[in-house]
Amino acid sequence: MCGIVGYIGKRQAYDVLIKGLKRLEYRGYDSAGIALLSDNNLNVYKTKGKVSDLEAFAQGKDIGGTMGIAHTRWATHGEPNQVNAHPHYSQSERIALIHNGIIENYSELKEGLLMHGFTFQSQTDTEVLVQLIEYVKNEHAVDLATAVQLALNEVVGAYAIAVIDLDNPDVIVAARKGSPLIIGIGDDEYFLASDATPIVEYTNKVIYLDEEEIASLDLINGLHVKTISNVEKTPQIKQLEMTISQLEKSGYPHFMLKEIFEQPRTLTDCMRGRVNISENNISIAGIIDHKDKFLNAKRIIISACGTSWHAGLIGKYVIEEFTRIPVEVEYSSEFRYRNPVIDRDDVVMVISQSGETADTLAAAQLAKSKGAFLFGICNVVGSSIARTTHAGCYTHVGPEIGVASTKAFTAQVTVLTMIALVLGKEKGTISEEMYLSILKEMSRIPEKIISILKQDNLIAELSKIFTYAQHFIYLGRGFNYPVALEGALKLKEISYIHAEGYPAAEMKHGPIALISQEMPVVVIAPMGGVVYDKVVSNIQEVKARKGKIIAVVSENDRTVREMADHVITIPETDECLYPILTSIPLQLLAYHIAVIKGCDVDQPRNLAKSVTVE
Ligand code: F6R
Repeated sequence: MCGIVGYIGKRQAYDVLIKGLKRLEYRGYDSAGIALLSDNNLNVYKTKGKVSDLEAFAQGKDIGGTMGIAHTRWATHGEPNQVNAHPHYSQSERIALIHNGIIENYSELKEGLLMHGFTFQSQTDTEVLVQLIEYVKNEHAVDLATAVQLALNEVVGAYAIAVIDLDNPDVIVAARKGSPLIIGIGDDEYFLASDATPIVEYTNKVIYLDEEEIASLDLINGLHVKTISNVEKTPQIKQLEMTISQLEKSGYPHFMLKEIFEQPRTLTDCMRGRVNISENNISIAGIIDHKDKFLNAKRIIISACGTSWHAGLIGKYVIEEFTRIPVEVEYSSEFRYRNPVIDRDDVVMVISQSGETADTLAAAQLAKSKGAFLFGICNVVGSSIARTTHAGCYTHVGPEIGVASTKAFTAQVTVLTMIALVLGKEKGTISEEMYLSILKEMSRIPEKIISILKQDNLIAELSKIFTYAQHFIYLGRGFNYPVALEGALKLKEISYIHAEGYPAAEMKHGPIALISQEMPVVVIAPMGGVVYDKVVSNIQEVKARKGKIIAVVSENDRTVREMADHVITIPETDECLYPILTSIPLQLLAYHIAVIKGCDVDQPRNLAKSVTVE
């Protein structure tokens, strides 16, 4: 959480930084701030609220300068107000710092600094760090980079920081541990940011800073990277693959809607070079290259958070179905702290859109340390999780900016399904006929999504009926049980309506007590498979208690159509592929209800896109 951006070069820093903050706003939007260095002045402007509030606040003020740093905050320590906003000044107001992460030993450090006469304005852990850097710099009479390095040796916690100093006006010092940081290299200019989105329009040459590395972005001496133990490193320059058009709304009112509508293309991209219909083959390099690890695995453990965890649960259903390899699905936040049993014959799969989720990263590191083979499914290329794993595959859906995950989810499910089919074929646990039939169906998924998206207006109309609701229940079974969980999560996170997802048959073990004529119940009931008839019975149970049924059904369905109050149809497909289709109307339903309720769909309250704190 929190977005950080920095610039040093020949452009006006303010413009670069504000634009960069807008791109990073999905990471946090409680408060925003900027520090600009020019003509021996270090100006800091900050305010509660969004980047647009910061722009209004900075109007008429001195915003000149060709170097600066800026921050958009998701509050951890201290309420989101102006004082706690970043950047933070040091005591002398000669150093300013921005930070993404948590300094765990901040109160201990603060006590020491108080004894040396430092005073504090804010309740943040970050202010402690900037004061510590100033203290070390003066005490040891060292330059800024050395002061940062020495200070970070005292710090326990996670950070991506950027620091500027009136005494070192040609350099930005940046460092990371546990939070992401990317440096962009232009002609006589440098950029830094939490992800590549603020950088892509200026340069495609980037360096992904590694754990415990410190970079000096120095206009006179060039770029230097060292570790916090003071070992010089040679930075590896990588090419960015992102394009600027991927970062714009392209006429859609919200990124979320754009991303929902992008899914026919993103899933085509995700399957490109993997699902080969002319050769009747599915291939994933990261799996094929390490197939022995998978084929000899006693079990696969999937670790993820939130929506990615829901994708993992679908992964369990498909991988077990087609490979007969047992799969366990873990919440990363639990897995990392409960001393799990992991051994060398296990394959641990981590799933993360951002590739930066702190709990999933820690789960990955834990699994690796115990000798498991670690496989990643990430969207963001070069992200921390992608770089931690032994092997992996990218989902290739482009930047996902809406805080509620949509296109990344369907791609994660697609990748997991492809993995199940590749392994099933290698193991001989799937029949040739079944393999070919699913392969063919997979290639049709994009066109089937196009037909679902045509019902957008119908779903928007339907949504108007349900804005009264305080609660929703989502029911599904088999492959579609995790879709019920995901549908409920989408609704609650963007519309603030309480929603719960259940395996449909679990209703009668408690939740059925909640059903009344006020309660909308979304039932995911596509035809096919052994559970369809069972879901029909579960719908009867809800109807008998006057619940309002919104059913997601196959186009040819007659039975559920007659029972439901409202129906959304999806084209037929293979049973294991339904989650990719059934999740789309639920994304649209959540989106439209939230829009009608006037909620901030792309930046829902209290949330941030990339959860880099635990
Ligand atoms: C919900 C959502 C979150 C994320 C979760 C994990 O719409 O986006 O639940 O899925 O924070 O994030 P990643 O996938 O980046 O690890």
